[in-house]
Amino acid sequence: MCGIIGYVGSSDAKKVLIDGLQTLEYRGYDSAGISFFHEDTIETVKTVGKVSALRHLVKEKATDKTSFCGIGHTRWATHGGVSSTNSHPHTAGKVTLIHNGIIENYQKLQADLEEKGKKPISQTDTEIAAMVIDDCYHGDPESAIREAVSKLTGAYGFCIMFSDIPETIYAIRSGSPLVAAHTDKGSIIASDMVALVNHTKHYFVLKENHIAKMTKEEIIVKNEYGEIYGPTIHHISWDVGAAKKGGYEYFMMKEIHEQPDALRNTIRPRLVDGLPNFETDGVSDDIFKNINRIVITACGTAMHAGLIGRNMIERLARIPVTVEIASEFRYQDPIIDEHTLLITISQSGETADTLAALKLGKERGAKTLSVVNVKGSSIARESDYVLYTHAGPEIAVASTKAYSVQLAVMYLIAFRLAYVTGTCSTEETQKYMDSLVHVADSVEEALSFDNQAENISHRLAKANDIFFIGRGLDYALSCEGSLKLKEISYIHSEAYAAGELKHGTISLITDNVPVIALATQPDVYAKVISNVQEVRSRGARVILITDSNSSVDASLCDHQIILPETDPLFTPFVSAVILQYLAYYVSVEKGLNVDQPRNLAKSVTVE
Ligand code: M6R
Repeated sequence: MCGIIGYVGSSDAKKVLIDGLQTLEYRGYDSAGISFFHEDTIETVKTVGKVSALRHLVKEKATDKTSFCGIGHTRWATHGGVSSTNSHPHTAGKVTLIHNGIIENYQKLQADLEEKGKKPISQTDTEIAAMVIDDCYHGDPESAIREAVSKLTGAYGFCIMFSDIPETIYAIRSGSPLVAAHTDKGSIIASDMVALVNHTKHYFVLKENHIAKMTKEEIIVKNEYGEIYGPTIHHISWDVGAAKKGGYEYFMMKEIHEQPDALRNTIRPRLVDGLPNFETDGVSDDIFKNINRIVITACGTAMHAGLIGRNMIERLARIPVTVEIASEFRYQDPIIDEHTLLITISQSGETADTLAALKLGKERGAKTLSVVNVKGSSIARESDYVLYTHAGPEIAVASTKAYSVQLAVMYLIAFRLAYVTGTCSTEETQKYMDSLVHVADSVEEALSFDNQAENISHRLAKANDIFFIGRGLDYALSCEGSLKLKEISYIHSEAYAAGELKHGTISLITDNVPVIALATQPDVYAKVISNVQEVRSRGARVILITDSNSSVDASLCDHQIILPETDPLFTPFVSAVILQYLAYYVSVEKGLNVDQPRNLAKSVTVE
């Protein structure tokens, strides 16, 4: 949520900041701004709208003097509407800062400041944070920052400039991510590695409550006791091209096409003697022993991957699994103990609700395993064990390849668990692994269904409501298909367990209401087809997705999509591509910004 960047060095800071913001725009795109030093002055340019609008404004209005130090922000509004005044950076006295996160006690702090006669000009919690730091500043920036943050509750990643300390940026964080690097061209910090990759492949994660002092020459990090701290350097394993569109109109389409490779990269390193193996991940089988239940917790798409994971784990390993929405989990006093395995799933590894659920699970003694895409992210660091997905950077707000690889890791976990606990023999496990290894080929085949999906999408784009139905694995996948569609097409959509429709929701099915029915599972196939008959006889326009073995009476549906030949247990990987395509083409048909849907941001670091 919100993209932030700071740079000090020998390059043109305005350019570094704006180019960096462009790569971070997926984290928030309500408004954008930069502040930069020239000589001893700090100049700020900010505007509502996208980074491209900021780029124009900077060209038009900013000084043409070169700057070598500055901070930049692209906003996802939380406190205060979308306006130029509310956009970042915010200045109070000698302090200019950018912020990613939420200051929960800002009203109380504001009241205290107003008692001293200090009034904010915006409606934001961030300006209050700037005012608090300025209030504490008497010439020593680090003690001012320390004193100020001790008064704040909430989450923050701050980059701060003091007008009387030119060519220097200070940074501190709690809850919200910040990664930084020093190169021969200076020091750079950002909320996300994608903004660093153009400059370097080596970075470090600023630890919570450490303060980084950044100058052209170096970055000095001090821990909470004021001692100099040498951070661990990580290496970005993907290259610059991975975070670029590579000829596609939208990142989402590029990322859909990256799924076969992402699956191979995630599955193959974990295949040893035909069996799933997490040794190179450092995940010991002990984590699967002495557990009597598994709780999976995550948000959005990642939670949907958890639903499929539950199905596979219960089916193969016969261990009870519940899937909990992370934002609910922590407030329902969950029953977990040392015999619980808590699995958190997250692409970004920074989702505030998921992180909070993980912390609660740990407090209550659960063993914790996370499935995460971003290396070194907060969720990865907090967990006892991590299984990384290898999707590379996912830029489109709508998750596609990250979902597929989350599924893959959940299948690997189910197979390993079943093997370790003995519910699957070596031969059975090897057979499952063989199918999983080959699923990337089926996904590759499914990529050629784009024309079919595009043709269907023309009609779907006119609908007000669209329903997805399925049973078992297909129901879990319907949830994801529906989320994807509403997220980027703004069409109301619901996913229903096909058998549940008749208990209420079928009253919404009238002439030409589109129903996307998934019927890929042999054990419930006949039942789903009966449910399709039920909606069909109420006038629904049915798009039926079946596996290659089903013979369907043509009168039952308006369109049928027959998946490439795939073992039924593995069809979610393949059906997912079809549903992603449908959502994508409906969004394109409606002329929407596929990658940056309204009101959303890629990484949700507020609760
Ligand atoms: O980074 P995470 O996987 O933790 O994110 C969770 C959700 O915010 C995310 O999956 C969201 O639902 C996607 N935008 C859906 O496409």
